[in-house]
Amino acid sequence: MAPISVASVLISDSVDPRCRAILEQHSIRVTERHNMKKEELMANYDGLVVRSATKVTADIIDAAHNLKIIGRAGTGVDNVDVDAATRKGVIVMNTPSGNTISAAELTCALLISLSRNVPQAVISMKQGNWDRKKFMGAELYGKVLGIVGLGRIGKEVASRMQSFGMRTIGYDPITPPEVSASWGVEQMSLELLWPQCDYITVHTPLLPSTVGLLNDESFAKCKKGVKVVNCARGGIIDEAALLRALESGQCGGAGLDVFVEEPPKDRSLVEHPGVISCPHLGASTKEAQARCGEDIALQIVDMVKGKRLIGAVNAQSLVSAFSEESHQLIKLGEAVGAVLQSCAASRRPFSQVQVTTQGCRPAAVRLREAGVRGVPRPSLGRGQLPGDARLCAAAPVPRPGEGGPQADAEQVHGAPAAGGVPGTGLREGEGPLGCQPLRAEGWSAGRCCGQMGNT
Ligand SMILES: NC(=O)c1ccc[n+]([C@@H]2O[C@H](COP(=O)([O-])OP(=O)(O)OC[C@H]3O[C@@H](n4cnc5c(N)ncnc54)[C@H](O)[C@@H]3O)[C@@H](O)[C@H]2O)c1
Repeated sequence: MAPISVASVLISDSVDPRCRAILEQHSIRVTERHNMKKEELMANYDGLVVRSATKVTADIIDAAHNLKIIGRAGTGVDNVDVDAATRKGVIVMNTPSGNTISAAELTCALLISLSRNVPQAVISMKQGNWDRKKFMGAELYGKVLGIVGLGRIGKEVASRMQSFGMRTIGYDPITPPEVSASWGVEQMSLELLWPQCDYITVHTPLLPSTVGLLNDESFAKCKKGVKVVNCARGGIIDEAALLRALESGQCGGAGLDVFVEEPPKDRSLVEHPGVISCPHLGASTKEAQARCGEDIALQIVDMVKGKRLIGAVNAQSLVSAFSEESHQLIKLGEAVGAVLQSCAASRRPFSQVQVTTQGCRPAAVRLREAGVRGVPRPSLGRGQLPGDARLCAAAPVPRPGEGGPQADAEQVHGAPAAGGVPGTGLREGEGPLGCQPLRAEGWSAGRCCGQMGNT
């Protein structure tokens, strides 16, 4: 496993003190300064931890030569130029689950407030009024809540609103219907969902496919007076369409925590009497901030120790290199390499190694990469990675002419031993993690052979 060396971290926003404490406990030098100028941010730290105030732009990333990791203590990485980071080989990670409960609770608060006009009544009271008729509300009990996006937050909102006696229906292209059904959400197409809902709440990421999910067309399909909540990202509910729907009465009220532009320069929605809004407070609880600060520090420490990579948004190759499954294959590969190493030291050294795997495609790649680490190379010690381990951290296989034995890997598509794989209880074609059973063997000009069963 390739540890990534992070000796110094700059925390440039207000992040929970646990973050600093954890990093320092693991001998990472921490500098904490807020409201820094762009030029100051370009200083040479190995890591940068931000919340949302610091805008990590391409010029900052390009100028920070030592930068290896940008950690965002929160969900989303809107304030980080992820493309620029990826081009530079800098890992960007966030803490996707630290604020789930807080965002779900705020969503519920907005749903309840919408049903009983709580914020409007509060303002009216403060103005010296006692207006009981104006703020007549409606019960949530027995109403239908449509949840678009059934991930972490969508699920938590569902269980909380069910306790109010709401029927929860939803849509998500990834979460299987039987999974959401197990937590009480019946899934259906958006076409079927829109006309049934008394309330709609959106919990998707902001993607091209989710921009304007609720627009003029979808509002027209909803029940007249439907109430909507956006506690996810500005733009999932089209703001202009929402204003039109509020003005026509097609929409009976909106709870908004997020806006396309924050803070919104166009005040038409914020000032609309049917809108209750917050300045992006979904994650603004002590608990969420503590969790996110702790999570980002622990994730960085795990990465530095080469244990696992959690929350990386731009490092697919590394995520897979750090996965539990790959871990085992890499260990196996290193063991193969160790065997080959002792063969190479024999009186009849070999010049070629071939690794054959059957089934699981990643096995071929990982065994080749990892096996080679155990093979002696002129310039590198065993297990040592050439250069700095960044996005492409897997050890490159020596090219012909680079010295040391050459390695090759192939994947065999064929039936495993008749009757299944001995000792595994697996039938032909079956394997862990949906893969076929793995068989790996090595040979060389010096007649070195090995065979392994499942990892
Ligand atoms: N207001 C805040 O302060 C705050 C705090 C935390 C999270 N958020 C936002 O809340 C949203 C949800 O966060 P999460 O942690 O639940 O994310 P998540 O990744 O756990 O869930 C998102 C779900 O949306 C689904 N999805 C994707 N495209 C979809 C589509 N076209 N239609 C329907 N569903 C679709 C995904 O399949 C996934 O299940 C994100 O946008 C996140 O940035 C806001």
